[in-house]
Amino acid sequence: MKILGIETSCDETSAAIIEAKSGNRTVKLLSNVIASSLPLHAKTGGIIPEIAARNQLTFMLPVVKKACKDAGIELREQIAPEIDAIAVTVGPGLIGSLLVGVETAKTFSYIWNKPLIPVNHLFGHMYANFITDEQTTSIDFPAIALIVSGGHTDLVYLEGHNKIQWLGGTRDDASGEAFDKIGRLLKLPYPGGPSIEKAAKNGHPKAFRFPRALLDDKAFDFSFSGLKTAVLREVQKRGTLDEQVVADISFAVQDAIIDVLIKKTLTAAENYAAKSILLGGGVAANQALRDAFEKSLAKEHLQTKLFAPKKSLCTDNAAMIATAGFFHNKTHPWKDITANPELYFD
Ligand code: KG4
Ligand code: ZN
Repeated sequence: MKILGIETSCDETSAAIIEAKSGNRTVKLLSNVIASSLPLHAKTGGIIPEIAARNQLTFMLPVVKKACKDAGIELREQIAPEIDAIAVTVGPGLIGSLLVGVETAKTFSYIWNKPLIPVNHLFGHMYANFITDEQTTSIDFPAIALIVSGGHTDLVYLEGHNKIQWLGGTRDDASGEAFDKIGRLLKLPYPGGPSIEKAAKNGHPKAFRFPRALLDDKAFDFSFSGLKTAVLREVQKRGTLDEQVVADISFAVQDAIIDVLIKKTLTAAENYAAKSILLGGGVAANQALRDAFEKSLAKEHLQTKLFAPKKSLCTDNAAMIATAGFFHNKTHPWKDITANPELYFD
């Protein structure tokens, strides 16, 4: 079946077409178009919801048209395109942004008479791992998912597709939010995550060490606001920062975040006898995080397999939404579907 995915939960406007085969349960990407208002937010060092939503209104239709064209799907007046369903992010996210995608998807569902699947954005980040060029997925259950994005840091247990349980999350800032806020303190370009990763490559590993909150706490909760405060104190103490100090602090920040994410995830994987670990969300694009995960799994002699989506599928995109829609294919009448900014795990 072919599914049109639509994603507008934050500052991206994305549409994608996936082709899913129920037999071997794999998902092939036919197109994935992403328009971002990021350059506009770079000026302000953060997302301004009103600006994001206004841009999404203008991007939405051209992005859907391009996604269809790239997938070889013809859009003609009065004729429904050759897709089987539409999947749309209904939350969590910014209300103005979500509304653009949800109302667009509802309109298409009505005029084309196609089933509409509401999708939780967080499921999308986990299910990006099921998009593969292989014939079948090698993801085995049970699995532990670590969702690390600008808005979320969550650990999730997947006994199977139909039994998904939230284990814990951040008590304050999300890991991506910590990268972004600290990036701003270090006067690095927005978003902070990729900038800190780049700067950290030239950092001395032992120049600084920042706190790892809740590292030995048994709960699967995270806290990153103390890290931000520790960096703020260091920055205030020093006044101006030269390039080497920025690199050294970047290394120590990335190291502290990675340490906590890995320790909690591996503990969860052990407790739940997970066969797979699924990374997802923008921070999962961080190569140092991926490498450190592989190293820790080898060091602990754990048989758990690590999965991370292609880097372009870690940050927000509609392909992951269409994929989650395929695996959680509960269609609803378009009239019943509403945007829910507070949506979380049940
Ligand atoms: O998943 P995403 O696109 O949006 C949300 O759903 O929030 O994630 C965006 C976040 C930003 O905080 C950004 O700094 C972070 O992902 N990010 C990274 C990297 N690339 C993006 N963090 C660390 N290293 C990266 N390479
Ligand atoms: Zn996201």
